[in-house]
Amino acid sequence: MRKKIIAGNWKMNLDIDAANKLYSEGLSIWPETSEDTAVMIFPPSIYLQDFIQRNNGRFEIGAQNLSPYENGAYTGEISASQLKSIGCTMVLVGHSERRILYEEHEEVLKQKIESALKHGLKVIYCCGESLTEREELRHMSKIQNQLALLKEFSINEIKSISIAYEPIWAIGTGKTASPEQASEMHDFIRKELTNLFGSEIANTTSVLYGGSCSPTNANALFKCENIDGGLIGGAALDAHSFLSIIEALE
Ligand code: PGA
Repeated sequence: MRKKIIAGNWKMNLDIDAANKLYSEGLSIWPETSEDTAVMIFPPSIYLQDFIQRNNGRFEIGAQNLSPYENGAYTGEISASQLKSIGCTMVLVGHSERRILYEEHEEVLKQKIESALKHGLKVIYCCGESLTEREELRHMSKIQNQLALLKEFSINEIKSISIAYEPIWAIGTGKTASPEQASEMHDFIRKELTNLFGSEIANTTSVLYGGSCSPTNANALFKCENIDGGLIGGAALDAHSFLSIIEALE
Protein backbone atom coordinates (compact mmCIF):
# COMPACT_ATOMS: atom_id res chain seq x y z
CA MET A 1 0.00 0.00 0.00
CA ARG A 2 0.95 3.61 -0.33
CA LYS A 3 2.58 5.36 2.55
CA LYS A 4 0.68 8.33 3.99
CA ILE A 5 2.93 11.33 4.48
CA ILE A 6 2.65 14.64 6.25
CA ALA A 7 5.66 16.83 5.52
CA GLY A 8 6.34 20.26 6.97
CA ASN A 9 8.30 22.68 4.77
CA TRP A 10 9.55 25.42 7.07
CA LYS A 11 11.05 27.40 4.18
CA MET A 12 13.29 30.33 5.23
CA ASN A 13 11.39 30.92 8.48
CA LEU A 14 12.29 30.91 12.18
CA ASP A 15 15.49 31.98 13.90
CA ILE A 16 17.28 29.49 16.15
CA ASP A 17 15.14 30.13 19.24
CA ALA A 18 11.85 29.89 17.39
CA ALA A 19 13.02 26.83 15.46
CA ASN A 20 14.14 25.08 18.65
CA LYS A 21 10.85 25.87 20.34
CA LEU A 22 8.82 24.46 17.46
CA TYR A 23 11.00 21.37 17.18
CA SER A 24 10.92 20.68 20.94
CA GLU A 25 7.12 20.98 20.95
CA GLY A 26 6.98 18.68 17.94
CA LEU A 27 9.16 16.08 19.64
CA SER A 28 6.71 15.96 22.50
CA ILE A 29 3.40 15.96 20.59
CA TRP A 30 3.81 14.73 16.99
CA PRO A 31 3.40 10.98 16.51
CA GLU A 32 6.42 8.99 15.42
CA THR A 33 6.74 7.88 11.83
CA SER A 34 5.10 4.46 11.60
CA GLU A 35 4.92 1.81 8.92
CA ASP A 36 1.82 3.42 7.34
CA THR A 37 2.38 7.10 8.06
CA ALA A 38 5.53 9.17 7.77
CA VAL A 39 5.96 12.48 9.56
CA MET A 40 8.64 14.58 7.88
CA ILE A 41 10.07 18.00 8.46
CA PHE A 42 12.18 20.16 6.17
CA PRO A 43 13.76 22.84 8.36
CA PRO A 44 16.32 25.39 7.13
CA SER A 45 19.54 23.47 6.48
CA ILE A 46 21.54 25.18 9.26
CA TYR A 47 19.33 23.34 11.80
CA LEU A 48 19.45 19.92 10.17
CA GLN A 49 22.36 18.34 11.97
CA ASP A 50 21.25 19.32 15.45
CA PHE A 51 17.65 18.28 14.79
CA ILE A 52 18.73 14.93 13.38
CA GLN A 53 20.87 14.27 16.46
CA ARG A 54 17.93 15.02 18.75
CA ASN A 55 15.43 13.08 16.68
CA ASN A 56 16.17 9.44 17.54
CA GLY A 57 14.54 8.32 14.32
CA ARG A 58 11.11 9.64 15.33
CA PHE A 59 10.57 11.67 12.14
CA GLU A 60 12.20 11.84 8.76
CA ILE A 61 14.25 15.00 8.48
CA GLY A 62 14.97 16.40 5.06
CA ALA A 63 16.59 19.29 3.26
CA GLN A 64 14.67 21.88 1.26
CA ASN A 65 17.33 21.96 -1.44
CA LEU A 66 20.56 20.37 -2.62
CA SER A 67 23.26 21.10 -5.14
CA PRO A 68 23.10 19.31 -8.47
CA TYR A 69 26.89 18.85 -8.21
CA GLU A 70 28.95 16.30 -6.35
CA ASN A 71 31.50 18.54 -4.61
CA GLY A 72 33.94 21.34 -5.28
CA ALA A 73 33.91 25.06 -6.00
CA TYR A 74 30.19 25.82 -5.64
CA THR A 75 30.09 28.57 -3.02
CA GLY A 76 27.08 28.38 -0.74
CA GLU A 77 25.84 25.02 -1.97
CA ILE A 78 25.26 21.76 -0.06
CA SER A 79 25.71 18.40 -1.76
CA ALA A 80 23.70 15.21 -1.51
CA SER A 81 26.64 13.37 0.06
CA GLN A 82 27.03 16.10 2.71
CA LEU A 83 23.32 15.85 3.55
CA LYS A 84 23.54 12.08 3.71
CA SER A 85 26.63 12.26 5.95
CA ILE A 86 24.71 14.14 8.66
CA GLY A 87 21.84 11.65 8.60
CA CYS A 88 19.44 13.49 6.35
CA THR A 89 17.03 11.09 4.62
CA MET A 90 14.96 13.24 2.29
CA VAL A 91 15.14 16.22 -0.02
CA LEU A 92 12.62 18.44 -1.83
CA VAL A 93 13.19 18.96 -5.55
CA GLY A 94 11.21 21.10 -7.99
CA HIS A 95 9.38 23.32 -5.50
CA SER A 96 7.76 26.15 -7.46
CA GLU A 97 9.62 28.74 -5.39
CA ARG A 98 12.90 27.28 -6.63
CA ARG A 99 11.66 26.78 -10.18
CA ILE A 100 10.48 30.42 -10.35
CA LEU A 101 12.80 32.44 -8.08
CA TYR A 102 15.99 30.51 -8.87
CA GLU A 103 15.08 29.53 -12.42
CA GLU A 104 15.61 25.85 -11.81
CA HIS A 105 14.70 24.11 -15.03
CA GLU A 106 14.41 20.51 -16.12
CA GLU A 107 18.10 19.78 -16.57
CA VAL A 108 19.12 21.02 -13.13
CA LEU A 109 16.15 19.28 -11.49
CA LYS A 110 17.15 16.05 -13.20
CA GLN A 111 20.73 16.43 -11.93
CA LYS A 112 19.48 17.14 -8.41
CA ILE A 113 17.30 14.04 -8.38
CA GLU A 114 20.15 11.95 -9.81
CA SER A 115 22.52 13.16 -7.14
CA ALA A 116 20.01 12.65 -4.32
CA LEU A 117 19.21 9.10 -5.40
CA LYS A 118 22.87 8.23 -5.94
CA HIS A 119 23.55 9.11 -2.32
CA GLY A 120 20.51 7.32 -0.94
CA LEU A 121 18.28 10.32 -0.26
CA LYS A 122 14.56 9.98 -0.96
CA VAL A 123 12.99 12.74 -3.02
CA ILE A 124 9.72 14.62 -2.91
CA TYR A 125 9.34 15.95 -6.44
CA CYS A 126 7.02 18.97 -6.58
CA CYS A 127 4.86 19.98 -9.50
CA GLY A 128 2.11 22.52 -9.97
CA GLU A 129 0.49 24.96 -12.38
CA SER A 130 0.10 28.74 -12.26
CA LEU A 131 -3.29 30.44 -12.13
CA THR A 132 -3.00 31.49 -15.77
CA GLU A 133 -2.22 27.94 -16.82
CA ARG A 134 -5.32 26.75 -14.97
CA GLU A 135 -7.51 29.49 -16.38
CA GLU A 136 -6.31 28.66 -19.88
CA LEU A 137 -7.01 24.98 -19.20
CA ARG A 138 -3.35 24.09 -19.55
CA HIS A 139 -3.02 22.76 -15.99
CA MET A 140 -3.14 19.08 -16.91
CA SER A 141 -0.56 19.40 -19.69
CA LYS A 142 1.71 21.42 -17.39
CA ILE A 143 1.70 18.65 -14.80
CA GLN A 144 2.11 16.01 -17.50
CA ASN A 145 5.23 17.81 -18.75
CA GLN A 146 6.66 18.16 -15.26
CA LEU A 147 6.07 14.48 -14.54
CA ALA A 148 7.70 13.51 -17.84
CA LEU A 149 11.06 14.42 -16.30
CA LEU A 150 10.77 11.28 -14.21
CA LYS A 151 11.07 9.14 -17.35
CA GLU A 152 14.81 9.66 -16.95
CA PHE A 153 14.79 7.33 -13.93
CA SER A 154 14.55 3.58 -13.60
CA ILE A 155 11.63 1.81 -11.94
CA ASN A 156 13.89 1.06 -9.02
CA GLU A 157 14.83 4.71 -8.65
CA ILE A 158 11.21 5.83 -8.90
CA LYS A 159 10.49 3.82 -5.76
CA SER A 160 12.46 6.48 -3.81
CA ILE A 161 10.41 9.36 -5.21
CA SER A 162 7.12 10.76 -3.92
CA ILE A 163 5.18 13.49 -5.70
CA ALA A 164 3.74 16.70 -4.27
CA TYR A 165 1.08 18.44 -6.34
CA GLU A 166 1.19 22.10 -5.35
CA PRO A 167 -0.84 24.53 -7.44
CA ILE A 168 1.25 27.72 -7.43
CA TRP A 169 -1.84 29.89 -6.93
CA ALA A 170 -2.58 28.07 -3.68
CA ILE A 171 0.88 28.31 -2.10
CA GLY A 172 0.97 30.74 0.80
CA THR A 173 -2.16 32.49 -0.48
CA GLY A 174 -4.79 31.03 1.83
CA LYS A 175 -6.58 29.85 -1.35
CA THR A 176 -6.70 26.06 -1.34
CA ALA A 177 -7.65 23.91 -4.27
CA SER A 178 -11.13 22.57 -3.57
CA PRO A 179 -11.29 18.84 -2.86
CA GLU A 180 -12.82 18.48 -6.36
CA GLN A 181 -9.97 20.37 -8.05
CA ALA A 182 -7.32 18.55 -6.03
CA SER A 183 -8.95 15.19 -6.54
CA GLU A 184 -9.22 15.68 -10.30
CA MET A 185 -5.51 16.45 -10.51
CA HIS A 186 -4.45 13.65 -8.19
CA ASP A 187 -6.49 11.16 -10.24
CA PHE A 188 -4.74 12.49 -13.33
CA ILE A 189 -1.30 12.17 -11.71
CA ARG A 190 -2.05 8.58 -10.73
CA LYS A 191 -3.04 7.85 -14.34
CA GLU A 192 0.10 9.51 -15.65
CA LEU A 193 2.24 7.45 -13.29
CA THR A 194 0.50 4.34 -14.62
CA ASN A 195 1.24 5.39 -18.20
CA LEU A 196 4.86 6.15 -17.39
CA PHE A 197 5.76 3.31 -15.03
CA GLY A 198 2.91 0.81 -14.86
CA SER A 199 0.27 0.19 -12.24
CA GLU A 200 2.50 -1.27 -9.55
CA ILE A 201 4.57 1.91 -9.27
CA ALA A 202 1.48 4.11 -9.71
CA ASN A 203 -0.29 2.36 -6.86
CA THR A 204 2.64 2.56 -4.48
CA THR A 205 3.86 6.11 -5.12
CA SER A 206 2.62 8.61 -2.53
CA VAL A 207 1.14 11.78 -4.04
CA LEU A 208 0.80 14.67 -1.61
CA TYR A 209 -1.24 17.83 -1.89
CA GLY A 210 0.32 21.19 -0.99
CA GLY A 211 -0.95 24.76 -1.03
CA SER A 212 -2.57 26.45 1.96
CA CYS A 213 -3.37 23.09 3.53
CA SER A 214 -4.58 23.78 7.08
CA PRO A 215 -6.31 22.09 10.02
CA THR A 216 -9.62 23.38 8.58
CA ASN A 217 -9.37 21.94 5.08
CA ALA A 218 -7.00 18.98 5.55
CA ASN A 219 -9.66 16.44 6.35
CA ALA A 220 -11.76 17.09 3.23
CA LEU A 221 -8.63 16.94 1.05
CA PHE A 222 -7.25 13.77 2.62
CA LYS A 223 -10.55 11.96 2.09
CA CYS A 224 -9.88 12.00 -1.67
CA GLU A 225 -8.83 8.58 -2.83
CA ASN A 226 -5.63 9.63 -4.56
CA ILE A 227 -4.37 12.17 -2.01
CA ASP A 228 -1.88 10.45 0.27
CA GLY A 229 -1.06 13.33 2.59
CA GLY A 230 0.24 16.86 2.45
CA LEU A 231 3.26 19.10 2.02
CA ILE A 232 2.54 21.86 4.48
CA GLY A 233 4.13 25.33 4.57
CA GLY A 234 2.59 28.00 6.80
CA ALA A 235 0.59 25.63 8.99
CA ALA A 236 3.74 23.59 9.73
CA LEU A 237 5.17 26.53 11.69
CA ASP A 238 2.84 25.89 14.59
CA ALA A 239 3.28 22.55 16.37
CA HIS A 240 -0.43 22.20 17.17
CA SER A 241 -1.63 23.09 13.67
CA PHE A 242 0.83 20.58 12.24
CA LEU A 243 -0.43 17.97 14.71
CA SER A 244 -4.05 18.65 13.69
CA ILE A 245 -3.08 18.08 10.05
CA ILE A 246 -1.32 14.81 10.95
CA GLU A 247 -4.46 13.76 12.83
CA ALA A 248 -6.65 14.67 9.86
CA LEU A 249 -4.84 11.98 7.92
CA GLU A 250 -5.60 9.22 10.36
P1 PGA B 1 1.73 26.70 2.16
O1 PGA B 1 3.04 26.16 1.43
O2 PGA B 1 1.14 25.55 2.94
O3 PGA B 1 2.17 27.82 3.05
O4 PGA B 1 0.78 27.16 1.08
C1 PGA B 1 3.11 24.88 0.89
C2 PGA B 1 4.44 24.66 0.20
O5 PGA B 1 4.93 25.57 -0.45
O6 PGA B 1 5.04 23.58 0.30
